[in-house]
Amino acid sequence: MWDYTDKVRDHFFNPRNVGEIENPDGVGEVGSLACGDALKLTFKLDKNGKIAEAKFKTFGCASAIATSSVLTEMIKGLTLEEAAKVTNKDIANYLGGLPEQKMHCSVMGREALEAAIENYRSGGKKKHELEGNIICTCFGVTDKEIERVIQENNLTTVEQVTNYCKAGGGCGGCQGEIEKIIERIQGDKAGQVIAKAPPVARRQTNIQRIQLIQQTINEQIRPALRAHSGDIELIDVEGNKVIVAFRGMCAQCRLTEFTMKEVVEAKLREFVAKDLFVEEDKESAKEPHNHRE
Ligand code: FES
Repeated sequence: MWDYTDKVRDHFFNPRNVGEIENPDGVGEVGSLACGDALKLTFKLDKNGKIAEAKFKTFGCASAIATSSVLTEMIKGLTLEEAAKVTNKDIANYLGGLPEQKMHCSVMGREALEAAIENYRSGGKKKHELEGNIICTCFGVTDKEIERVIQENNLTTVEQVTNYCKAGGGCGGCQGEIEKIIERIQGDKAGQVIAKAPPVARRQTNIQRIQLIQQTINEQIRPALRAHSGDIELIDVEGNKVIVAFRGMCAQCRLTEFTMKEVVEAKLREFVAKDLFVEEDKESAKEPHNHRE
């Protein structure tokens, strides 16, 4: 059972400002149902440019509901310049604190607020986009977001980073990268703490592994192949063997073997597991194709 403050309980049992504003001035949507948390924040300004009304819809745990609810109260009456300065720490403090493992909910609130302000400033055109390179493919967290939670919350361990933005909390494949980011930002301070508390290796289930393989193909491999009019399809996973089929220009490329080892296998080993190897689906390789030289 989590140790929640009275204020968290209050906002969870009696959430304020639930819903969605019609014709809002700003909309911020962050997170995803697939990752377990999602938040949509809408606000309307008064004639003086202050936030007159804010509402939320969220999918998540008690802390996600409480942080979203309190956020809508915190920002009412603020100008956008003032609201833009609200940090995840402010949100957690307003609730009298959150369990360390739930701090990612406060980060989600801050992200939704920033996304809504950005949306307003772009005239309603801009939607939330991830900045930087994806480090944690399990939860879609970029290096920029990891750097930011480390700096703003003075984090020194991978476990803390996981608590604040979920990165590293799935298969664990990105923990080495997270460690490097912590070391780069925190220097010796991180080295000492990491030495005492090495990241926990988490067991990867078959389902997680297959999902991660598919995700890595979609995000890390397919865009490069499509840039050359090719494509790739995941056919099957048998233990450590990943069976793929090349499509389009890749299907007839003489460099298929090279692409398979140096691109596909290398990326899957980097993002999923070091013991994976890739084979081309024999049946697909025999299929005639339409490309004309
Ligand atoms: S936990 Fe980050 S890639 Fe799986």
